Amino acid sequence: MALKILIVDKDEEWLFAAKEYFENLLYQATLVTNGKDAQVALYNEKFFAVVMNVKVERHSGIQVLKFIKSNYPSQNVIMITEVNEDDDEEDQLTPDKLKKMGATEAIAKPFEFDDLKGLLEGHQSVGDMVSSVPRRKELGPEEEVSVEDDKFTSVKIDEFYSSQAVLFDIFIKLKSNRYVKILHAGDVFSKERLDKYKNEKDVEYLYFERKDLFKYVKFNSFFAKKVIGNKNVGGGKKVKMLQNVTEKFLEQTFEEGMKPQIIDQGKEIAESVYDLIKENDDLFQVFKDYADFDPNAFTHAYLVTLFSTSIIKQFEWQSRTTIECTALACMFHDIGKMKLDPSIAQLKVEDMNDDQLLEYKRHPEYGLEMIANNSLINNSVKQIILQHHEHFDGTGFPFNKRGSKILTLSNIVCLADNFVHIIQDEQQKPVEALKTLLSRRAQLTWYNSIIVECLIKVFVDPKKIMKVHDLPSNSRVVPNKKVS
Ligand SMILES: [Fe+2]
Ligand SMILES: [Fe+2]
Repeated sequence: MALKILIVDKDEEWLFAAKEYFENLLYQATLVTNGKDAQVALYNEKFFAVVMNVKVERHSGIQVLKFIKSNYPSQNVIMITEVNEDDDEEDQLTPDKLKKMGATEAIAKPFEFDDLKGLLEGHQSVGDMVSSVPRRKELGPEEEVSVEDDKFTSVKIDEFYSSQAVLFDIFIKLKSNRYVKILHAGDVFSKERLDKYKNEKDVEYLYFERKDLFKYVKFNSFFAKKVIGNKNVGGGKKVKMLQNVTEKFLEQTFEEGMKPQIIDQGKEIAESVYDLIKENDDLFQVFKDYADFDPNAFTHAYLVTLFSTSIIKQFEWQSRTTIECTALACMFHDIGKMKLDPSIAQLKVEDMNDDQLLEYKRHPEYGLEMIANNSLINNSVKQIILQHHEHFDGTGFPFNKRGSKILTLSNIVCLADNFVHIIQDEQQKPVEALKTLLSRRAQLTWYNSIIVECLIKVFVDPKKIMKVHDLPSNSRVVPNKKVS
């Protein structure tokens, strides 16, 4: 059953274009041109989401939003607004204001349909996705297609997990730019069929279109959580699965704005540090426990590794040892959270009371205690774990260290950690997350400004970003040539 959306806008031409776009993506779109008809439609039918321009008439978009909030509070509503630079700031209905008024998401014109698609997908549960796949009684025919390689992404056939029906089309590769669609969305991928491709046809990789990465990541994260709770599945397999999801997550989120070679290098580093950990039984055990403790935290550690090492690469003094040392510390930086009382570990920092906060602030020390005796954990790794929440202006924890008393590498990890939190918690793409970070002036004093500059350089267009956000110069400290 297709997911139903209600689209409300005065502009009929735009409405029809939107309908065509979303129906190609298997949504079912109902169109109305005014607020009153929107309310009637909502009364008669259930919609997965309402997409509504604030500027509709016969009940304004805001009136309809209020109506929805009081009558159908769980309804997803995506508001479309137009921000006019000449208007007073107070009069403007910015996306932020609309979200405060109860919109699930809001977007300002001009935008592409793709942006809207992203917002809609962000609110689909795995259940929504599974139920929106068209069911087929019989398998669709295999179909040979010519498509450019960079439209596809691959996954090892051994590491492909599927529900009853696949959520998107699956291909195998014949040669460069040539593929065969072996399954259509909605087909059932039985174990026998998988084995047939693997054993009889020697297929090693399955391919799917990059536009379906979101579905893959969402389904696999959901599936990973289930697997994590299963005692019969080995720790190594769980870690591998989380790693796969994280890598596809990276592909999905980082398509735009970041230098591609940096992502590849970051992945390579994370991979080699992972191999290092795997060879050390004690460390690997901690790592597996950590994946068990919280799969999201595992992704978090991986992303912090990626960004910390990307920042270090911008410095002249970087070396392979420095990078690997930092990567190791990143993978383990938050393991101390496992020692916190579960009631505290689950809370957001802003929701903690004073006692809980005090306990939370000990996680760097707890983490260090857990692995301090391991032979791979040298002094720098220890310092980074211990200091990853210390701030350059002295407002951090656990020891309120400031300035040059904090190891440069620790301050790098601190910045990468907070940056990744914006990506994960606020669901922003890296470029957006960078702009958000740079707009938080008070927070910028937590880091040596040279390190912030280096984070900016990780992006494709650093000059543009620097121009808009001039950095506060909180420091004259140039990182040491040699970092211990
Ligand atoms: Fe932490
Ligand atoms: Fe963290």
